[in-house]
Amino acid sequence: MGKNIVIIGTHWGDEGKGKIVDLLTEHANAVVRFQGGHNAGHTLVVNGEKTILHLIPSGILRKNVECLIGNGVVLSVPDFFKEMQGLEAAGVEIRGRMMVSPGCPLILPHHISLDLMRENVRGNQKIGTTGRGIGPAYEDKVARRGLRVADLFNEKQFKISLEEIMDYHNFVLENYFHTNKVSLQETLDASLAFADELKPMVGDVVDRLAALRAAGANILFEGAQGSMLDIDQGTYPYVTSSNTTAGAISSGCGVGPMALDYILGITKAYTTRVGSGPFPTELFDSVGSHLASVGKEVGATTGRPRRCGWFDAHALKRVIQINSLSGLCITKLDVLDGLDKISICIGYENSESESATPIYEEMPGWKESTAGIRTLDGLPANARAYLDRIEAACDVSIDFVSTGPDREDTIVLKTLF
Ligand code: IMP
Repeated sequence: MGKNIVIIGTHWGDEGKGKIVDLLTEHANAVVRFQGGHNAGHTLVVNGEKTILHLIPSGILRKNVECLIGNGVVLSVPDFFKEMQGLEAAGVEIRGRMMVSPGCPLILPHHISLDLMRENVRGNQKIGTTGRGIGPAYEDKVARRGLRVADLFNEKQFKISLEEIMDYHNFVLENYFHTNKVSLQETLDASLAFADELKPMVGDVVDRLAALRAAGANILFEGAQGSMLDIDQGTYPYVTSSNTTAGAISSGCGVGPMALDYILGITKAYTTRVGSGPFPTELFDSVGSHLASVGKEVGATTGRPRRCGWFDAHALKRVIQINSLSGLCITKLDVLDGLDKISICIGYENSESESATPIYEEMPGWKESTAGIRTLDGLPANARAYLDRIEAACDVSIDFVSTGPDREDTIVLKTLF
């Protein structure tokens, strides 16, 4: 019997999910994306070579692993091909093992214009989106007027529907935002340019996943962004426009909740956030700068600097609840090397108010390097104590620890497949 294993980011994204998905796919037959779009940035390092993926599932670097994109993912067709061609140029064979759901909503150029204009008028209230058109594409889906991958294959009807939708959005762009309209012809040409190439990759993802499960395959469900960016459970309105938590698997690729065998939360050993919104444990001092520079905390999609702060165990407890997390993977432990003291947020004062103040517990740091250590015993005692404290504070088991960007720099404490 194979297993269905889920990978979820626990905070605001950038926890290092891509590396862990890539690591676990050694024993997986398929990897599935079920929400988000190319706002994600998943960095993989294999033998020192770095690859950043946005839309293509992180299993792609392992030959023979099937990669599926479920209907919950918003798809920019040109960006999908750009990413695919980049990988193909590097010698990765993709087309025979990629399946895209016909139900994926399309991200079109007017979604990007709307995303940018909305952010613009919000001024200092802006969400800090990635500017990829994610929010407006999901809005069109929920409004039941969006175009989907399947629509690309009926050119005549696609043109009629696109014209109708663009009439509406161009009216808003011109008359509300006082900016340029998006060209219908250019959108049409750009959308249909890849239709023939895409068609052989389009298939029934729900059916394929059920068939794989029935055949005893191991399947990984790759979450994008983090749990606190979830449209319902996150720090609204400073969130993304999809459900980023484990429940989204059912709606986003048609696998029911009872078919999930293990849900792994990926948690950085400290916390980061890119974009605006509340971040109670954010640091503005030399420790914050240490985390940003040693952790190379720059957004993989937009290149923006990430905000950095202490580990937020209080937030994590709720995230464990809302995802039914089975266990944790702590990433980037080595970034804490050399700090004199390390704090963990174990609660908030005034948690209901805007100015929630973290309550910290302070622990001694460690001077030794943990970079690349692959066994728990190899870690300094204070680093082990830090991990033990996280486990106790959150009542969860740490099943993996990542000590460097490379696939192999990982302490594996549980066999999932
Ligand atoms: P959107 O998803 O582009 O609409 O952006 C909404 C919020 O989610 C912004 O704060 C983004 O910075 C954040 N966000 C979106 N995708 C990611 C990601 O992959 N990692 C981290 N933050 C993200």
